[in-house]
Amino acid sequence: MKIMVINGPNLNMLGIREPQHYGKETYANLLDKIQKYADEKGVSVSFRQSNHEGDLVDYIQSAYYDTFDGIIINPGAYTHTSIAILDAVKAVGLPTCEVHISDVNAREDFRKTSYIRAACVLTVSGHGTNGYLEALDYLIKLKGKD
Ligand code: DQA
Repeated sequence: MKIMVINGPNLNMLGIREPQHYGKETYANLLDKIQKYADEKGVSVSFRQSNHEGDLVDYIQSAYYDTFDGIIINPGAYTHTSIAILDAVKAVGLPTCEVHISDVNAREDFRKTSYIRAACVLTVSGHGTNGYLEALDYLIKLKGKD
């Protein structure tokens, strides 16, 4: 099983950016944590990060062409603005989980809107970086039902 983990803008700044919302773990720590968990579960994970909307669309499309089984994505602020990312997830038809480290529903009103959510099999918000592991578990279970 092969999962693509995509992080959007400013998630490369984890550990530095607003620790009151995103904690103190760095982006490198996050990847390490997901990698170790995936290894335990016998799942292959591949990481992407970009600050650019079109790159995120390209990654989603490449998950299809490179025959990934699912996507875990934290689109960062593009969650709240991007129809292009929603359309990309719909286009590829791969089971996709939306993850937010912070609880987006408990913050500013503009963070309550998520375009991508309509195309996702799961949304995890406010569980810190453990949300990525929950998403991985979900996709593993889903694959087991195939
Ligand atoms: C975020 C929440 C978004 O509102 C924000 O723009 C981010 C990170 C999160 O992980 O909590 O960049 O997706």
